[in-house]
Amino acid sequence: MRERLLLLVALAVLAGTTFYAMRERASQRPQAVQPLIPFNHQKHLAAGLTCVTCHAQAETETFAGVPAVTDCVDCHAAVGVQTPVLDRVGPQLEQVAARGEEIPWKQVYRVPGHAYFSHRRHVTLAQLDCALCHGDLSQVTAPVVRQAAPLTMDRCLECHRQRQVTTDCLACHR
Ligand code: HEC
Ligand code: HEC
Ligand code: HEC
Ligand code: HEC
Ligand code: HEC
Repeated sequence: MRERLLLLVALAVLAGTTFYAMRERASQRPQAVQPLIPFNHQKHLAAGLTCVTCHAQAETETFAGVPAVTDCVDCHAAVGVQTPVLDRVGPQLEQVAARGEEIPWKQVYRVPGHAYFSHRRHVTLAQLDCALCHGDLSQVTAPVVRQAAPLTMDRCLECHRQRQVTTDCLACHR
């Protein structure tokens, strides 16, 4: 009798801490440490570029993609961009490009391997605005280090319910 009671208490505690740990994990994801390149969404968007100029694959692939360093250098040269910040950073970008390397940006938005997400489905088929999931980048002046609002399963489900899209476990966990 006493053993069974203890077992029940232990199980309840375990369930409680697992639940708590999952909520903690979702609400306090660690901040990413980005390379020391002062990339600035606000400046690029104010200059008239759109999200898919740089994240072109979002329309056609599961992933959105980030521009290669040669894209940075080529566009600046083509447009003839000159700013004090770029005067300082431009040569650094050219060196990285000349070495055939990439800027090691850390990915901030990521679903675990057991969940499936497709940008094409949400951007091209459902015509959803990027900001619904990524917040307003037109005010963001430094590399992204944390999610605008944690993209938890609850957020996926909330929108799916609202828009009468499937909430079948196997639609996302496949
Ligand atoms: C001039 C190119 C450019 C434009 C235009 C641009 N981005 Fe980006 N974006 C980047 C680069 C480079 C990074 C990686 C550095 C960083 O995090 O800022 C990035 C990172 C991101 C990230 C973080 C990805 C991750 O998980 O690490 C999101 C989300 C994002 N961009 C969304 C957008 C949206 C939405 C728009 C339009 C409102 C947009 N971007 C416009 C170049 C661009
Ligand atoms: C499609 C064109 C395009 C691409 C691609 C692009 N840029 Fe730019 N970039 C611009 C323009 C236009 C400006 C000038 C904005 C302004 O005048 O404020 C600019 C300005 C800058 C500046 C100066 C910002 C400041 O505060 O003065 C930096 C730094 C910069 N870009 C970095 C990058 C990096 C890093 C990448 C690649 C990951 C990149 N850009 C990709 C068009 C581009
Ligand atoms: C319905 C929500 C949603 C919308 C709308 C959405 N994204 Fe995402 N985005 C995500 C999720 C979830 C991830 C993480 C995906 C993963 O781990 O495979 C992500 C990851 C990213 C990344 C980093 C990884 C990658 O795929 O390259 C970038 C950059 C990005 N999104 C940009 C955009 C842009 C630009 C748009 C609009 C054209 C957009 N997203 C629209 C949910 C969304
Ligand atoms: C802001 C609303 C919104 C959010 C947030 C959202 N979705 Fe969706 N999702 C949709 C819509 C609308 C569709 C239907 C697209 C279409 O027309 O095919 C969809 C479709 C899907 C499908 C295809 C479903 C099928 O019928 O097979 C999957 C898988 C999916 N979403 C996964 C996710 C995941 C994973 C997340 C969270 C990381 C997420 N979604 C977040 C709106 C959303
Ligand atoms: C619309 C997409 C979607 C649907 C439907 C969905 N999930 Fe999820 N689920 C996710 C995403 C995305 C994550 C990862 C969330 C995160 O990283 O915080 C997740 C995480 C989980 C986890 C946590 C695993 C971990 O990493 O700790 C479990 C358990 C889970 N889902 C079970 C289910 C079950 C059971 C159902 C059906 C009742 C279901 N899911 C339906 C998208 C979905």
